[in-house]
Amino acid sequence: MRHYVSTSEEGINRESLPFKLYEKAKKFGTWDPRNIDFSKDKADWESLTKEQQTSLLTLISFFYSAEEAVTNDILPMIYAISKTGHFEEEMYLTTFLFEEAKHADFFSLVLQTIGVRRELNSLHTPAYRKLFDELLPETMGRLMVDQSPKAIADAAVVYNMFAEGILAESGYWTFYENLKNINKMPGLLEGITNIKRDESRHIGFGTFLLQRLMSEYSDILDYVLNKLQGLMPLALEISNSTRTGDVNPFGVAVADNQAFMHKQLNARIEVLKRAKGKTLEDIYKMDVVFE
Ligand SMILES: [Fe+2]
Ligand SMILES: [Fe+2]
Repeated sequence: MRHYVSTSEEGINRESLPFKLYEKAKKFGTWDPRNIDFSKDKADWESLTKEQQTSLLTLISFFYSAEEAVTNDILPMIYAISKTGHFEEEMYLTTFLFEEAKHADFFSLVLQTIGVRRELNSLHTPAYRKLFDELLPETMGRLMVDQSPKAIADAAVVYNMFAEGILAESGYWTFYENLKNINKMPGLLEGITNIKRDESRHIGFGTFLLQRLMSEYSDILDYVLNKLQGLMPLALEISNSTRTGDVNPFGVAVADNQAFMHKQLNARIEVLKRAKGKTLEDIYKMDVVFE
């Protein structure tokens, strides 16, 4: 017999962290890429040097296909959460899927605006493909047949902590550093700001999920921290795979970007450790933390 959460004695837990994330997504996740003012972006794009265009287009191509990849790859996570009976988490994940698709929609509009109509797969480096063509789909796809705590933890580490929490965050940093100082492409930056806000909920969900697993299974904390630290060489490999010198064509130091990545790693680890010694009930009652 199916177990219904909604009509059980406890009902939906409206005070739980995943439900609060769902409420936030209903409020803040409904921005429309079509409403962004791109009127200045085309001329700004044309004013960039060839090297700057190549650098920015590579970053855009990384994000655009990554948004498509994460739209595809969140589906097994939704399946696994549904199978293990966490309805509030599943409610939140319905917004997650929509938002990832919308992010791909946004990058499609950016390319249309700047008049780039060509294949961009050739810009993807082997290090990028290692994550988005192999590690991510394999880790997420496993959830279709294995919903064990470690399989779910692996998925949250690779998808939410690493791809979203470290790589994407350092990508936003690069977009801002590249364009803020020269005051160009405001439409692109407005979309990035909106995406970053959506992504902070996604990372918040992954953090909650890992903390829940840590409170339920005592061996998960060390397992997760080791796994996350073990992924850092891949983050640096991806960063180095596009490097053309010590500073990029916008004058931004690669070392500063990599320092930011390490800062993100440490922030993720510190937040995860807050679950130490907490009960499942404590974890459900925690406030949504946006780093
Ligand atoms: Fe996204
Ligand atoms: Fe995301």
